[in-house]
Amino acid sequence: MIQNKNILIGITGGIAAYKICALIRDFKKSGAEVKVVCTPNALNFVTKLTLQNLTQNNVFIEEFDIKDWKPEHISLSDWADIMLIAPATANTISKIAQGIADNLLTSIACAFSKKMIIAPAMNCKMWQNEGVKENIKKLETRGAEILEPETGFLACGYTGKGRLCSLEKIYNAVDEALNYSDKLKDQKVVVTAGGTIEDIDPVRYISNYSSGKMGLSIAKAAYDMGAQVVLITTKDFECPFKTVKVKSAIEMQNAIYEEFGNTNYLIMSAAVADYRVKNYSDQKLKKGNEETITLELVKNPDILAELCKNKTSQVVVGFCAESENLTENAKSKIEKKGCDYLVANDISRRDIGFNSNDNEVIILDKEGNINKFEKASKKVIARKILEWISTK
Ligand code: C5P
Repeated sequence: MIQNKNILIGITGGIAAYKICALIRDFKKSGAEVKVVCTPNALNFVTKLTLQNLTQNNVFIEEFDIKDWKPEHISLSDWADIMLIAPATANTISKIAQGIADNLLTSIACAFSKKMIIAPAMNCKMWQNEGVKENIKKLETRGAEILEPETGFLACGYTGKGRLCSLEKIYNAVDEALNYSDKLKDQKVVVTAGGTIEDIDPVRYISNYSSGKMGLSIAKAAYDMGAQVVLITTKDFECPFKTVKVKSAIEMQNAIYEEFGNTNYLIMSAAVADYRVKNYSDQKLKKGNEETITLELVKNPDILAELCKNKTSQVVVGFCAESENLTENAKSKIEKKGCDYLVANDISRRDIGFNSNDNEVIILDKEGNINKFEKASKKVIARKILEWISTK
């Protein structure tokens, strides 16, 4: 809901700046309070007076034009529920990514810790520049949402990818972000991701094909919903929230126990190995004359089932991957594990699940309710799972 929200729009010096005037009107019509901060270059494309009239607020440009005891870059970032930078030039994107704060807009961005949406617009060659690409990636890693430019005719005469995405897309992204941003506020969400690695010797291991993408999507969605997130992962992910890198099931168990006490939601999407090697060899195992060899395995703790036996107020969500009889197996698993919810996906399908960017799942609760989330990106599925468990 945009109504009564404080939207801070950063406008930088690109030709698409004029389009933002129409967007401000849309936000105002929806009942938002809008303030604009411009880079000095932006005023070559739109006038201060136009922006002042549309926002019915002072337009902020100079860093040292202080009217209050509190410096503007702090009071504006405290005031805003969301910061939108549109159009975002290569220059401003790169400065923000590097933590440079050389004007009011970049200083606010540097101090801003809430949701930031960036809609780049630039010449197609600039968009392809490796430095710009790296900086975009950096901002994404830190939690900013990038609304990629569209391909088409560019004001500079070129045709290519670089024009500001549609105003409708920007409006919807802001609306969606504001809708989500409070849903898990003050909640601690711990998510596990990836397949555990059980060492045999210093060079060999037992693992599985889990990519960790589902867990990462859940962690990101929880973060977007305002949660304090901890991602316990076997994969290297750069995230704007705490991550704990683990390898084996035992390490994962220890990391979960460290966090579990004050956790509100634990979401166990990691594929934990059921067995580990009994006698790990410090030295690389040598090939002998034997045609077959036997590895002795011992059972790993069932982390999920153990936690559920001892949990207090935590909501615990398990995952299961099944290659047949999805619903029946999921029903018996939720009982066996004792978790509050179980998300089940069908791994016999190539187009979803392991290593894929998409998923299709069913989710069960202890009372026997079942809901199906049709095939969608893992990002969408992640949001649906969190919405379901947090609104019940
Ligand atoms: O029994 P199964 O491996 O199908 O259960 C999957 C669920 O149990 C997942 O949520 C997984 O993270 C968890 N699990 C666990 N400890 C194990 C094996 C699985 O916590 N040893």
